[in-house]
Amino acid sequence: MKTILSGMQPTGQLHLGNYEGALKNWVDLQDSYEMYLCIVDWHALTADYENSSELKSRVLEMGIDFLAGGLDPDKCAIFIQSEVREHAELHLLLSMMTTVPTLTRLPTYVEKKAEKGLDTYGFLGYPVLQAADILIYSAHFVPVGKDQEKHIWLAKDLAIRFNKLYGQTFNEPEVLLTKFPTIPGLDGRKMSKSLNNHIALADSEEATAKKLKRMFTDPQRLRKGDPGRPEICPVYLLHQIYNPDHEEVVAPCKSGAMGCVDCKGKLTECLNQKLAPMRERRKKLVEKPDYVFDVLKDGAGKARLKAQATMEEVRKNMNLVYY
Ligand code: TRP
Ligand code: SF4
Repeated sequence: MKTILSGMQPTGQLHLGNYEGALKNWVDLQDSYEMYLCIVDWHALTADYENSSELKSRVLEMGIDFLAGGLDPDKCAIFIQSEVREHAELHLLLSMMTTVPTLTRLPTYVEKKAEKGLDTYGFLGYPVLQAADILIYSAHFVPVGKDQEKHIWLAKDLAIRFNKLYGQTFNEPEVLLTKFPTIPGLDGRKMSKSLNNHIALADSEEATAKKLKRMFTDPQRLRKGDPGRPEICPVYLLHQIYNPDHEEVVAPCKSGAMGCVDCKGKLTECLNQKLAPMRERRKKLVEKPDYVFDVLKDGAGKARLKAQATMEEVRKNMNLVYY
């Protein structure tokens, strides 16, 4: 079996965008690969080191959503990055062979630096830490979205250079691009927690209905009877994902026969139906935080075995074994 590793920052409860963009894909892959899924708490600190007090609850919420979403701890190792300290050691060693311009040129760095005014050493090293996450499991594939592609290329480049300098040690990881439609948020922009335009997997049916009621539609449609344009309407984008009969709303929207309220009502039904099994599982998991942490602890145990074996090789090959 080939190995897969992926990671996600502990932002707390997952929203539809996280589910469609990552979790759903991982659930599909867990049967066919040796899989490691890492909740990257150290990466979260690179931008938010001052707010570490919420890490624990965010990790727990994420663990709950991973399990509710269908990840099976018997099939994959779900773990917290900082529980496998070997990642930090490999990060340090890889940092020796990474030039600063390689890192400052990355678009993720440029954008986030401008956005947050971040200028720390830890933040600069973010992709090197990510490379360590990947290489320490000798991952063959890394399922990520397009925005992360260059980080995986850096990891691959480091693997190639390390192998050349010190002898074959790492697999060269490849990107496994996750193709998924961009999930629009309530305001029509990309769904994201920081924009607070999201629907969480944990939201109740009522909360979902309420949120969809205030979702943006075709701005030219002021009252029922006005002709609508589903092709530019974010509500219709969600219909295309969650309503198997989404064609049914096109004609009545265009003619003006159907109002947005009814259209959203239909979507609410479809979405709530789709999320019902996850919410059911979620309810049970919320009652058992100890179980969820045990799953993460077990996952870290499994991950550690592999990470420790890799690091023994790394130290040996790098001539860091002295006696
Ligand atoms: N940087 C990734 C993101 O923001 C998260 C991440 C950290 C990751 N380590 C990883 C993803 C290793 C894939 C592999 O989405
Ligand atoms: Fe959008 Fe539906 Fe309103 Fe048409 S009827 S504009 S698809 S919400």
